[in-house]
Amino acid sequence: MFRFGCDYYPEQWSQWLAEGEARWEEDARLMAEAGFNTVRLAEFAWALLEPEPDRFDFTWLDRAIHLLHSHGLDVVLGTPTPAPPPWLLAAHPDITQVTAAGRRLAPGTRREACANHPVYQERSQAVVTAMARHYAETPGVIGWQTDNEFGCHDSARCYCPHCQATFRRWLEERYGDLDALNRAWGTSFWGEIYRTWDEIPVPALSAAERNPGHLLDFYRFSSWSWQRFHQAQIETLRRLCPGHFVTHNLMGFFPELNYYELSRGLDFVAWDNYHYHGATPGMVAATHIHMRGILERNFWVMEQQAGQINWSVTNPATPPNFVRLKTYQAMGHGADGVLYFRWRQALAGSEQYHSGLLDHAGRPTQGLEEARQIGQELQRLAPLLEGTEPTARIAILLDYESRWALQIQPHNQLLRTDHPPDFRLENPALAVDREDELEDQFLTGGAFEAWPFLAPAIALWEANVPMAIVSPEADLSRYDLVCAPFLNLVRPAVAENLAAFVEGGGALILGPRTGVKDSANRLFSQPQPGPLAALTGATVAFFDSLEPDRRNELRWEPHVNRMGRETAVGLWAEVLEPAGAEVLASYTQGWYAGRAAVTRQEHGPGQVIYVGCMGGPRLYHTLFEWLLPALDIRPLLISVPGVEICARTGPDGRRLIFVLNHTRHPQILALSAPKVDLLTGQHFTQNLPLQPGDVRVLQVAAERA
Ligand code: GLA
Ligand code: ZN
Repeated sequence: MFRFGCDYYPEQWSQWLAEGEARWEEDARLMAEAGFNTVRLAEFAWALLEPEPDRFDFTWLDRAIHLLHSHGLDVVLGTPTPAPPPWLLAAHPDITQVTAAGRRLAPGTRREACANHPVYQERSQAVVTAMARHYAETPGVIGWQTDNEFGCHDSARCYCPHCQATFRRWLEERYGDLDALNRAWGTSFWGEIYRTWDEIPVPALSAAERNPGHLLDFYRFSSWSWQRFHQAQIETLRRLCPGHFVTHNLMGFFPELNYYELSRGLDFVAWDNYHYHGATPGMVAATHIHMRGILERNFWVMEQQAGQINWSVTNPATPPNFVRLKTYQAMGHGADGVLYFRWRQALAGSEQYHSGLLDHAGRPTQGLEEARQIGQELQRLAPLLEGTEPTARIAILLDYESRWALQIQPHNQLLRTDHPPDFRLENPALAVDREDELEDQFLTGGAFEAWPFLAPAIALWEANVPMAIVSPEADLSRYDLVCAPFLNLVRPAVAENLAAFVEGGGALILGPRTGVKDSANRLFSQPQPGPLAALTGATVAFFDSLEPDRRNELRWEPHVNRMGRETAVGLWAEVLEPAGAEVLASYTQGWYAGRAAVTRQEHGPGQVIYVGCMGGPRLYHTLFEWLLPALDIRPLLISVPGVEICARTGPDGRRLIFVLNHTRHPQILALSAPKVDLLTGQHFTQNLPLQPGDVRVLQVAAERA
C-alpha cells in the first residue's frame, strides 16, 4: 500500500488555537479528503508525554490517534528523544553537547543532547519503552520513526567529558594495546606517542592540524555513538512492538554519520527531502537513489517539502507543480511513502516561517491542491506500484570513510565538503536550464557537499540510465558496471570486493584520488592506487591540485570520443604511468601535456578504467557513450534535457515509466510506440506533450522498455 500523508503536530493546535482540540476533527477530515492514509506524530513531544520523571501522559496522543484512525488515517509514531524535556536538562545540565571549541551548548531547543551521556541514554530508553508498551496494540499505529534526523544541527560529534571517556574505551577495545594505536596513527610524527589511554584527547580545537588517524577514529567513534544509541531504540521497539515497522528519517547526502551502519536493523529507511540552494533535479534524484541504496530497498520520504522552507538563504516560494513533480520524482525512484512536512504552518515556535499544506490561517495552499490531485491519481496508480522497484545494472559506490578522509585532508580547499565555498542564492525550485553552469560547478568545487561522487551520477541521470548508489561492501555481483568515483580510502574488504567483481567479468571505473589511504588514514606504502594497482595496470606518477581558474583538457583516443566532446579537467589532475594498461585519454595543457589521464586494463572479460582527473558530467558522458553500448546498457527512453525518465519494475515484468518535466517550458517527447498515461488515462500515439513541471506515468512491458 502506498503511504501518503503528512507530518502533524496536534499538540501545537490544542495549545495555540482558541478552538483547541476541536480543530483536530477538521484537520483529520481535510487529510482524509486529500486521499491521505498516514500521519506521523509526536517526534518532539517528550515534554508532553512525560511531564515529570516517570509520570507518563498518553491521553492526548491516544485521542489524536483514535480520531485520525476514525478518519481512515494510520499513524507512524516518532520516538521523542531529539527533544529532551526541560526537567531532564535542568537536573543534568551536562546532557548538552560540548563543541570542538570547548563550549557547552545551552539547553532549550532540540538535538542538543550527547549520545554518550548515561542519563540521557537511560531516560531515552525509559520513554521509548513506555511508549512502545502503550502503543504496541493500538489500532491505527503501524510503525515507528526513531528519533529525528540524527546528526542535524551539527550534533553528530560531541567533545564533552562523557565522549572523552567513551572514546578512550572505544579505542582500547579497537586496538587492544597502545602500541597498536601508536603505530596506526603514526604518533612518532610530532612526538604524539601515548603511554596511557587517559592521555588521548578528543580531537577538539588544537593549535595545529590534527593527526588524520586520530581524527578518522574520532569520526568513526562519533558515528558509532549514534548508531549504538539508535540500536538501543530499535531493539526496544522490535521487542515490544513486533507487529510494527521501524524506520528513521535520514538527511540525504549528510556526511557525518555512516548511514549504512546507522540504518542497520531498520525495516526501511526514510529521508527528508528539502530543496535548499543549489539542489538541482539531478542532485535530488541522486539523493533518492542513495537513500534507496542504504538498505538496497524501497524507502519513504518522511518529510517532503510542501512549500517554502525557513532555513535556507532566501527561502523562495515554490512554483506551481513543485509538490506534484517532487512527489512523483520520489515515487519514480522507489519511495513507497511520501508524507508532507507539515500539515499546517506553525503559529508559534522556531519555524513560524516554514510553510505547511495549510497556511498559518488554515487556508489550503497550492501544495495541498497538488497533494489532493495526487491523492486522486493514487487511486489508480497505487495498486500498480505494489511490488515494483527501481532496478539498475550500474552501481555507483559511496563510501563514508572516504568522505571523512576528504574532510580531514581535502588538500585542495575547494574540495572541502564541510562548508561549500560557493553559497548559491537562487530559486532552486524548477531550475535545470543551466547545463553549463552545472558543469562549471563540478570544475570549480563547492556545488554540493557530495559532489566528488556526483559527476558520473549526474551524467547517467541526464542520459536516463538507471543506477544504484551503494556501499563499496555491497554485493556487486548483480551489476555489470560499477563506478567508484571517489574511493580515497580502501579497506582490505573493499579491495577484495572490487577484485572479485572484475574477476567475475565486471567493468569497473575508478575515479581520481582512489587508493590513497589505508584503513588507518595513512598513505599506502605502494604507489597510488595502492592495493588496487594490480587492477588498474597503471599507477599515479604524481598529482596536480588546480586553482579554480586553471583547467586542463583531455584528448581522448578517437574511438572513445566519437561525439568529439570537449572534456575539461578542474581541481585535480593525476599523471598516470601505465604498466600494461592502455591510455584512453591524455592531458593537452601545461608541462605534463601528452601524459596519461585515463587508462584501461582488461582482465579477461572484466575491465578497469582509471580516471585520474576530476571533471564534470561531460567527462563521464564521453566514457559512458563509449562503454554502455558495449555492455548493452541502454537508456530507459530518450528524452530532452531536463525531462527526467525513471522507472519501477515488478517481478512480473510490468514496468512503470515516470516522465518528469523539470524545465519551465512545455516539452514534447517522441514515442516509439503508443502509450497510455496512467495518471489521466489519455492515449498518446507519437508525441507525449508535457506542461512545465508536468508528470506522466506510462506502463510498458519490461523487455520493451
Ligand atoms: C527538518 C526536521 C523538521 C523540520 C524541518 C524543516 O528536516 O526534521 O522537524 O525542522 O526540517 O524544514
Ligand atoms: Zn558528549
